Amino acid sequence: MHKRTSLRRLAAVAITAGFVTGATLPAFAQSDPIRIGLILPMSGPFASTGRQVEAAAKLYVAQHGSTIAGRKVELIVKDDGGTADVTRRLAQELVVNDKVTVLGGFGLTPLALATAPIATQSKTPMVVMAAATSSIIDASPFIVRTSFTLPQATIGIAEWAPKNGIRRVVTLVSDYGPGIDAEKVFVARFTQGGGQVTDSLRVPLRNPDFAPFLQKVRDAKPDALFVFLPSGVGGQMMKQFTERGLDKAGIRLIATGDVTDDDILNGMGDAALGVVTSHHYSAAHDSPANKAFVEAFTKANPGMRPNFMAVGGYDGMRVIYKGLEAAKGAGGEALLATMKGQSFESPRGPVTIDAATRDIVQDIYIRRVERVGGQLYNVEFDVLRAVRDPGRG
Ligand code: DHB
Repeated sequence: MHKRTSLRRLAAVAITAGFVTGATLPAFAQSDPIRIGLILPMSGPFASTGRQVEAAAKLYVAQHGSTIAGRKVELIVKDDGGTADVTRRLAQELVVNDKVTVLGGFGLTPLALATAPIATQSKTPMVVMAAATSSIIDASPFIVRTSFTLPQATIGIAEWAPKNGIRRVVTLVSDYGPGIDAEKVFVARFTQGGGQVTDSLRVPLRNPDFAPFLQKVRDAKPDALFVFLPSGVGGQMMKQFTERGLDKAGIRLIATGDVTDDDILNGMGDAALGVVTSHHYSAAHDSPANKAFVEAFTKANPGMRPNFMAVGGYDGMRVIYKGLEAAKGAGGEALLATMKGQSFESPRGPVTIDAATRDIVQDIYIRRVERVGGQLYNVEFDVLRAVRDPGRG
């Protein structure tokens, strides 16, 4: 008994001093499952994000099996309802009680930011699959991002617009991290290209009423309105854009692809036709990898079309799976190291998890909403290759 205790103490001291590595004293038993904890808004106003990420993550598991390094993989999905306090509590429970090896999901910027300190303190890798404010990546050295950043998505349309007869623009964004990123980058790049931003409007993240803002835009009569809204909200804005007659007044709508989100685009009707956006994913992306992804996703989830959130979730699981395989099931810094630097063909196109920044490098497409086979799609017609997040520094 005494001998055992002292041996244990010795082991504890050795670990503290950094003498014993995971290879000689593994932190897990070979019979322990590897748990992946996803925290997503499965209810509330941003539930479409949770639904999309979960469906794609489950598809990835169905396609790639539930065993890594001889251990069973368990995917745990928790609903935070889009509320940061809940995300933080769930993250704590997943780390302490469920002993997850990795955290993932994060449907909105405040939810990712609320979890970052837990990832840092517990040394748990955290894969941001949806949230997209540039600065999230700096909130913890354990964060890896497979979604995108708003500066990355915005530069495409900000550079396209002044080259295509758009001179005067009003911007309209959700008043929080990603909206402010989008506004800042749009104003800078569009102005650089010779355009003029005559007004910048911000709407509340929750329950926005677009009517007074759109009336203001109609009165100002710019060449175009640039919009960023989080996934799932674009339809309401589009409806009011036409109801208030902005289209008839000759005001064009330009946006990041969050507005013409594949999850709701078909429901927007003809009002969306011709809207030009820039983004990293379209369900209409023309590649064999994307065709296979869309087909498998739709088969597993009848009536649902994958959007950019689904791709963030699918690729997030890819990064986790390949990382775990290379780290032989270990978590912590070993897993972080094997997630960094991964390069692969995503349904969106070629991507890299930059080893230095931990952020995703990807192509950004310029797209126009068109009717294809009776359905509305974002049809890509130009591309910026291998875009790094331009929003930091
Ligand atoms: C964020 C959320 C979204 O739904 C989106 O489309 C872009 C960014 C966010 O909160 O970071």
